[in-house]
Amino acid sequence: MKRLVIGVLALIGSTGICSTAFGVITGSDHDFSGSNWSSGQICLPCHAPHNGTVIADAPLWNHDVSEASYTLYSSATLDADDLSQPAGVSKLCLSCHDGTVAIDAFTGHDGTIFIGTIGTGSGDLGSALNNDHPVSFTYDSALATADGGLWDPSSKSSGITEGGTIDSDMLFAGRMECASCHDVHNKYENTSLLLIDNDGSNLCLTCHNK
Ligand code: HEC
Ligand code: HEC
Ligand code: HEC
Ligand code: HEC
Repeated sequence: MKRLVIGVLALIGSTGICSTAFGVITGSDHDFSGSNWSSGQICLPCHAPHNGTVIADAPLWNHDVSEASYTLYSSATLDADDLSQPAGVSKLCLSCHDGTVAIDAFTGHDGTIFIGTIGTGSGDLGSALNNDHPVSFTYDSALATADGGLWDPSSKSSGITEGGTIDSDMLFAGRMECASCHDVHNKYENTSLLLIDNDGSNLCLTCHNK
């Protein structure tokens, strides 16, 4: 009897651990498994195990990518000097979020549904990124020093993982991207798929020393 009780407790314990460890993309804005074009799958519109699209720095990418040319952020006080056309993981986000490529356009499926036409429609950033937080530039100790109002990403804790820094937890090869603020898989279950809840501007204050 005692063994049975322990067995049941172990089972409950392990189920609890599994449900957190496997993340929460299910039911998020990025779960298209309920759509008739996704073959009932979650990952497929974005990733495929075989024969996907080969994009630099992209994890097994399956979605059609945008050919748009973007208007970049600029300001008199911006110190970053290598702001480029969105690349790496930001290009992947914009393959749906600039509104030029259909959400359901991926290998083996021609798309017809565009971002502004489903959900709230607010996810359409367009190709003018000059009114959005800059992405696709290097954020390193030198930039922090030059700016004076940024934490040093190589030593400032992100608060996301034990011992993790801004650089290790939020940057991609030392660069700021869309996924420096968002988790596409909704791992942290914050509003707007944020890496860090922005209550009290906590997300902003992780990098900006204001
Ligand atoms: C809406 C598009 C989208 C969906 C759906 C999606 N992903 Fe991703 N995934 C991305 C993007 C974009 C990246 C790169 C950005 C990043 O790593 O944060 C990524 C990165 C990854 C990575 C490499 C980085 C890491 O987090 O380990 C893995 C592995 C991955 N995805 C697996 C999956 C699996 C498995 C599913 C389905 C359960 C899935 N993804 C669903 C867009 C998606
Ligand atoms: C396969 C297409 C696709 C890709 C790729 C994709 N998204 Fe989305 N995303 C969507 C759709 C569709 C919605 C719902 C939009 C709406 O309601 O207007 C959405 C919603 C969101 C939202 C709003 C979530 C909320 O709860 O309010 C955020 C934030 C977001 N996406 C960020 C990203 C980021 C960052 C990436 C890349 C790391 C990315 N997305 C990649 C299709 C995509
Ligand atoms: C510096 C942090 C940061 C970066 C970088 C960033 N976002 Fe966001 N994003 C936010 C925050 C915070 C919100 C919450 C809603 C708001 O304040 O507009 C948000 C909201 C969104 C939404 C939901 C729109 C809405 O009005 O609900 C989408 C979609 C989105 N971001 C996509 C992207 C994409 C795509 C990129 C890269 C081109 C990106 N974000 C880069 C911080 C960021
Ligand atoms: C992952 C780190 C990170 C996060 C999180 C972040 N930022 Fe930034 N932000 C930067 C970096 C780096 C720059 C580039 C600064 C420069 O080059 O002068 C920047 C630039 C800016 C600028 C433009 C500065 C200028 O001189 O034109 C503003 C304004 C800004 N961020 C506000 C925000 C707000 C508001 C939030 C929260 C919603 C936020 N940031 C979140 C890293 C971050």
